[in-house]
Amino acid sequence: MQRIMNQIQNKNIILGLTGSIAVYKSAELTRLLLDQGIQVQVVMTDAACRFITPATMQALSGKPVFTELWQDNHATNQMDHINLGRTTNAILIAPASADFIAKLAHGLADDLLSTVCLARDCPLIVAPAMNRKMWENPAMQRNLKQLETDGITILGPASGIQACGEEGMGRMLEPGELADAVFSFFWPKLLSGIKILITAGPTYEQIDAVRGITNRSSGKMGYAVAKAALELGAVVTMISGPTTLLCPHGIALKNVTSAAEMFSAVQELVADADIFIGVAAVADYRVAQPVEHKIKKSASTLTLELIPNPDILGYVAGLPSPPFCVGFAAESQNLREYAETKRKAKNIQLIAANLVQEAIGADDNEMVLLDAVGETILPRADKLTQARALLQRIIQLYRQGTQT
Ligand code: PMT
Repeated sequence: MQRIMNQIQNKNIILGLTGSIAVYKSAELTRLLLDQGIQVQVVMTDAACRFITPATMQALSGKPVFTELWQDNHATNQMDHINLGRTTNAILIAPASADFIAKLAHGLADDLLSTVCLARDCPLIVAPAMNRKMWENPAMQRNLKQLETDGITILGPASGIQACGEEGMGRMLEPGELADAVFSFFWPKLLSGIKILITAGPTYEQIDAVRGITNRSSGKMGYAVAKAALELGAVVTMISGPTTLLCPHGIALKNVTSAAEMFSAVQELVADADIFIGVAAVADYRVAQPVEHKIKKSASTLTLELIPNPDILGYVAGLPSPPFCVGFAAESQNLREYAETKRKAKNIQLIAANLVQEAIGADDNEMVLLDAVGETILPRADKLTQARALLQRIIQLYRQGTQT
């Protein structure tokens, strides 16, 4: 895995800026890409320079910014428009204005950035940013289809409040989402086309209108697994209990509250899954008779009757043609022993065992992966690193399973 990280960290991209107010986000995007070890060469159109100065982008990227087709030529052979697109691993246009998308769709080359795109020998990624009406315009949608047909990757846009005060589709994705997407883009697609269903976060079992039974799961581990699977090219669906986390762009998210809702969602979606990963901290019990209104305080003892929730992972593993099943075991003692007992009882291929008091809610984790062959220790690291290592083990076992 370190080898893959090193390879990505040696990548360089051209970050093309076009005329949109969203270009202010590209300053932060540059910083985030550099933080990930990706080198950034900024190329700006005239319109982009009206929103943000090349000096800002030069200071952030640490490199001279290219703006002109005819002047400022940095290459000794005076061929910036050819050289730039030949020496980079990808071009990311963020923000991509409606006008620039139209140029790409029609192969126009009347400024440095559009010429570099036309002369490129590398993948092109486009992050649109525009007013919602421009986005909805049939001409825009036609152009977008053309870009997709031409193999250009489109990231976003998102929906929300726009600079003009209107609300709708057309907001450029946030810098963090774009930086993650670029990083994922370079990750080897070992799970390309594989459908992965993940449960994440806690469940909440209602007692009355304001009270409930839940646990301290933050969802961080489940969301990290989803993100790592996406990096590897998997088609990821995540069923999440209540969390405060943002779902990474590109993951199909279904929000649920209770274990019963999570179970229904899994029943609905599991038939399509090649791999199922149960990271959620599902409440083992729910209240037999939740009360619609707030229970009034009284001097007498309040007794709640709790009944078991369905075992979601057990159900999936017991299907006639189950997907490859991965569980998590959160134990407070006898980690390996209890986790291995769970793996065998649930009849699943792999279980990721962690000490609940150290893992739950934390940013990092330490895990032992148990399977029929033996164990793999994942030393303490942030949850995304843990998730990436878990997926490498899943890939090995899944391939063995599909090859036999
Ligand atoms: O969300 P974080 O704050 O990042 O914390 C991560 C975590 C500690 C929650 C995570 O790493 C973890 O251990 N998740 C599993 C928690 C759990 O419920 O463990 P368990 O040992 O009770 O369950 C075993 C397995 O059965 C799990 O895969 C669980 O999703 C599944 N299960 C449990 C009960 C149930 N009714 N249905 C299930 O599918």
